[in-house]
Amino acid sequence: MEGDDCKTARGGSQLRLVSLQAQNFKKLKLAKPLPLSEGIILITGLNESGKSTILDAVLYALFGRVIRPSKMPSNEDIISYGNGEAQVRLEFDIGENRYRVVREVHKTRPNRATLVEVRPNGTTKALANSVKDVTGEIERLLGGITYDEIVASSVVAQKDLERLIKQRLDDRRKVINVFLNLESFNKVQDQLDNERNGIEGTSRTPGHLTVERQRLETLNEQLNEYKETSVQLDNLNVKAEKLKKDQQRRNRHSIQDAQRVWRSGQRTRLSTARDRRQEPPHRQSPATTRQRRHTTVRAWKS
Ligand SMILES: Nc1ncnc2c1ncn2[C@@H]1O[C@H](COP(=O)(O)OP(=O)(O)OP(=O)(O)O)[C@@H](O)[C@H]1O
Ligand SMILES: [Mg+2]
Repeated sequence: MEGDDCKTARGGSQLRLVSLQAQNFKKLKLAKPLPLSEGIILITGLNESGKSTILDAVLYALFGRVIRPSKMPSNEDIISYGNGEAQVRLEFDIGENRYRVVREVHKTRPNRATLVEVRPNGTTKALANSVKDVTGEIERLLGGITYDEIVASSVVAQKDLERLIKQRLDDRRKVINVFLNLESFNKVQDQLDNERNGIEGTSRTPGHLTVERQRLETLNEQLNEYKETSVQLDNLNVKAEKLKKDQQRRNRHSIQDAQRVWRSGQRTRLSTARDRRQEPPHRQSPATTRQRRHTTVRAWKS
């Protein structure tokens, strides 16, 4: 239970519990005001000793309602067994002002309630004098917050702890943040979750990061294909260059061969002409003709 600085849900002033007094409120008997110190209040005690009843007494003083046995208890539920009436009295601060609420529960008469503002000099100013008006005025002073909202946001009933423990980590963190009035953390957490989902995506919708990663993979694949093609192109260029050189060499050899043949032919023709000039044509024997042919063949072979 928080004994101080319970910020109202709609940005109203802070509620701070100051002291609690109870007579025959269930099994609670606090003849003297029980000071509710600042900070988080830890209530310890044996089972059934009345720990939760203290919280119920605070809630009943503020709103006329309790957590157990039901939100709208009967007078018998509230009054200690065997007694005819009960009273609860709570002093609390809202902002700079101090208030005192007193509720009386009767078996045979209508219930009564009063709310006063307690000035610093100890004098009081009446604010409401009926059960309905007191509850309405307290809700107004709290900035419109109701019993349901207080219980939902600032009170974790003992049996609800199990539910809290079983909640998913995220939900539990949110409930604890609400409990400690750290709702701004919940908002920032939600914003961060949304941004992260936008970037990383969910199982259904891929986020920016996933889309960009896939694009990068595709571009990498294309780059690798270009690299392979470039290597193939280089190899083809080397082969083409080699073929070109081979072709040029072959062409050079062919020209050299042709020149050699032409020069040899020239030599043969010159020597034949010389021979003809030295021997008259009618003196030539068949053997001489054969010899000349032979010389011509040799000239072609050389
Ligand atoms: N109208 C009543 N008059 C007297 N005693 C009551 C009344 N209503 C409930 N009780 C008693 O109050 C006790 C429960 O008190 P409470 O729930 O505050 O105890 P607790 O310390 O919170 O127990 P636990 O540790 O089990 O949570 C029970 O013994 C119950 O019989
Ligand atoms: Mg309890």
